[in-house]
Amino acid sequence: MKRRTFIKHGLTAVALAGTGGLFLPGKSGLVPAAQVKGFTTSLHVPPLLENLDGSGNSASFNMNVHRGKIEFFPGKMTATLGYNGNFLGPTIRVRNGQRFRINVNNTLSDVTTLHWHGLHVPAQWDGGPRQPISAGTTWNPDFVINQEAATLWYHPHAMGLTGEQVYHGLAGLFLIEDEVSDTLDIPKTYGVDDIPIIIQDRRFFSNGQFAYVQNMHDVMNGVIGNYLLVNGVMQPTLTIPEGQVRLRLLNGSNSSIYKIAFDDQRTFHVIASDGGFLERPVPMNAIVLSAGERAEILVDFSKESKYAVISLLVDQMRGSRFEAMRIIVNGTAQVKAMPQTLRAKEKIFESEASRTRRFIMETMSMGGGRMGMGMMGRRLAINGKKMDINRIDERIKLGSTEIWEITNRSAMMMRMPHSIHLHDVQFQILSRNGRIPPLHEQGRKDTVLIQPGETVRIISRFQDYTGVYMYHCHLLEHEDDGMMGQFEVFA
Ligand code: C2O
Ligand code: CU
Ligand code: CU
Repeated sequence: MKRRTFIKHGLTAVALAGTGGLFLPGKSGLVPAAQVKGFTTSLHVPPLLENLDGSGNSASFNMNVHRGKIEFFPGKMTATLGYNGNFLGPTIRVRNGQRFRINVNNTLSDVTTLHWHGLHVPAQWDGGPRQPISAGTTWNPDFVINQEAATLWYHPHAMGLTGEQVYHGLAGLFLIEDEVSDTLDIPKTYGVDDIPIIIQDRRFFSNGQFAYVQNMHDVMNGVIGNYLLVNGVMQPTLTIPEGQVRLRLLNGSNSSIYKIAFDDQRTFHVIASDGGFLERPVPMNAIVLSAGERAEILVDFSKESKYAVISLLVDQMRGSRFEAMRIIVNGTAQVKAMPQTLRAKEKIFESEASRTRRFIMETMSMGGGRMGMGMMGRRLAINGKKMDINRIDERIKLGSTEIWEITNRSAMMMRMPHSIHLHDVQFQILSRNGRIPPLHEQGRKDTVLIQPGETVRIISRFQDYTGVYMYHCHLLEHEDDGMMGQFEVFA
């Protein structure tokens, strides 16, 4: 039986039985280094995808979606999925104003899609569940990049399959550059002092295969792994030049919330959120990112002695704390001053909004009957509804500005974090439980964490493109279980 079938029907299928026992997560504390590679592997930096069009005004790429395998554990090959490689995908880098074309060739035996997370894009090229790429076919998006510099990402989004395909390795970064990112005096040499950091966790069977959703608990809670990967590598080491380094952090996990910090609690500066640069750098000692969220940070390593070792720590918050990566300082200093300002932001004012929509995210008990009221009968829903691709949930007039007020009303027994992600737009957070959000959440966002009991108000303009887009919880197991809806922008 296919896993998506049993997820849909809520059965405790033993879909993966016979593949061996699970490696059980440790209680807390660091996962012992001896279990994994122990910082002997260098951090892999995803290569930049080759632009086949040298004109500058346009960019054209080729991407193959295929099966792969990786030896995460000695002598055991894990079956994976990858874009142009065994696991994860290359980094796509484009410029604002550029014409963007890509051939996405699906060599899998299953349907997939390719969604540009965070991109302001015509609906037909959004790559959500409405744009399936069936097995053996190619999809050819062609549009103009219409957005300021930002760290976005791409991942599959086929109905009911997003979590499973991302888990097996389908994800990559999508960087937009513009005059501001060119001009700012910040590190910008990809892979040298401007480094992508894709953080994910995984769970494995003892035979080395990924242990994706096993039962309804995994759906309700999200699949939380007990091994941590950075750019697809367990416990890597990153050697960096002395001085200032820019890390582009992506929580690329399915359902984890990460608190990210350094072992010496050093201060770093957040310079960008999901939608691009903040107005000015925000000093912090730790940052929380839920699944799908990004942050760019500047870290100063100019005071370190040569070969100093600093650890990047990742606290799963609902699981383990990991020493995720070791950073070794080497090379000559290029001391840079911290910029005072980054990009002047045009604020979206509440007075612009033509209406407020309310959304309740909750776990509902469905039906009784044979399901009973146990975990099997529980369902994740937004405003009491589960995703239906044949239903448009919200209709929005093109050019309007709206406030969306989202409440996580998870019941006493099931205190579940959720998040909300909107396709097409970059919004602004007005308030979190009535309070102004912290500075690093005051820039543009496309995904926001909503803890149990919280109400988050966001404001957004719906401009340029008409068509149908998704909004959903970005805990991917929740999304696949139907915690998703569709909004249509009409002219
Ligand atoms: Cu990152 Cu609708 O997704
Ligand atoms: Cu998205
Ligand atoms: Cu959720």
